Amino acid sequence: LIREVKGIVALDSRGNPTVKAIVKTNKGIGVGIAPSGASKSSKEAIELRDGGKKWVGMGVNLAVSKLNEEVSQRLINQDSRQQYLIDSLLIALDGTKNKSSLGGNTTTAVSIAVSKAAANTANLELYEYLGGPSARILPTPILNIINGGVHAGNNLAFQEFILIPTGARTFIDAMRMSIEVYKNLKGVISEKYGKTSTNVGDEGGYAPPLNESREAFSLIETAIKKSGYELGTDFHLGMDAASSEFYNKDKKVYKVDGKEFTSSELIDFYESLINEFSIIYLEDPFDEDDFDSFSEITKKLGNKLLIVGDDLYATNVNYLMTGIKKKATNGALVKVNQIGTLTETFDYIRLAKESGIIPVISHRSGDTEDPFIADLAVAVGSGIIKTGAPARSERVSKYNRLIEIENQLGPNAIYLGKEPFVRL
Ligand code: PGA
Ligand code: ZN
Repeated sequence: LIREVKGIVALDSRGNPTVKAIVKTNKGIGVGIAPSGASKSSKEAIELRDGGKKWVGMGVNLAVSKLNEEVSQRLINQDSRQQYLIDSLLIALDGTKNKSSLGGNTTTAVSIAVSKAAANTANLELYEYLGGPSARILPTPILNIINGGVHAGNNLAFQEFILIPTGARTFIDAMRMSIEVYKNLKGVISEKYGKTSTNVGDEGGYAPPLNESREAFSLIETAIKKSGYELGTDFHLGMDAASSEFYNKDKKVYKVDGKEFTSSELIDFYESLINEFSIIYLEDPFDEDDFDSFSEITKKLGNKLLIVGDDLYATNVNYLMTGIKKKATNGALVKVNQIGTLTETFDYIRLAKESGIIPVISHRSGDTEDPFIADLAVAVGSGIIKTGAPARSERVSKYNRLIEIENQLGPNAIYLGKEPFVRL
């Protein structure tokens, strides 16, 4: 039974305060820390922030005090193994549609901490506790190694240029190969743009002063070759356009690389990039409300690559239902703090899987040392994890946990490489 629920302030990778929950049972303890996005969907659970001058308005004192009072009182003496019940209590206590009363940051931290306390009490690894004995698929990492959009101080409209180690045989091999390319990419950028261009963005990828998306992909291609690998066999590429950030709702156009595109022109542009750079992953190609354009691109290109809804769905089963009806995507991003509890996240993953949609477990651009999503990815057998460049501790904590899990599983571990992208 839960004996103590405590909230304190922690810091995320951008230096913003966030909520940390510590849950103790008679025999175990669990800690959860809420991450935080920058290119957020308007459909997400609301983060409770204090406003005002302190912490530049980003304080979470109210969230933490709600955790220490209302939430703590409600959860004491509950069974930590009853995740569904506990999440239901959180949802009822909050009483809003978007967690705006307790804050999605509060409920996320608590929900995660409860699951870890239960696993710890049962003396199980978290992925075993959440996924059972069949949990043994290590996800293929998709690594954001050039940052643009709102994650970087450059002119790239697209937010993420992603490296995918499809040719690796094991998770550790995938990391080694990707790091070789990441390191060589630094040299390639430095040679062409000078060493001041090798600084990194919010997710640890380089943020060179580029104006054209094609140039970003081409730099990565050069780095792949320089590392002795081949694009299209050892590696494939991906991108998160995060296009709500550069959509002009009044004019109904997308501004990319200094030009304006209608939806159908943008499909053609995506298609040319996809063919030129062996792209097998495309996230948020259109505005978060434009289901119809998603359906169009999925109809046209969905047999070639994974088209993933992030801001489109916001880890919410209701939006995913619409996407399923409209055949909008064949992939769905999963971010626990977009919806605010684990139970709702599992419902979303289940619905995706039942509908033949690949769930992709994801970090946030503001993240922490909490490796929770590594265990989550293995537990649900997602097959894909998105957690940034292989640098910066808030990214690397997830990779390190996956390396550890691969070691624990030994010969039972499975790495699927390209398969999750073509299981369409
Ligand atoms: P965010 O970005 O965490 O800033 O929302 C990540 C993403 O768009 O996938
Ligand atoms: Zn995204």
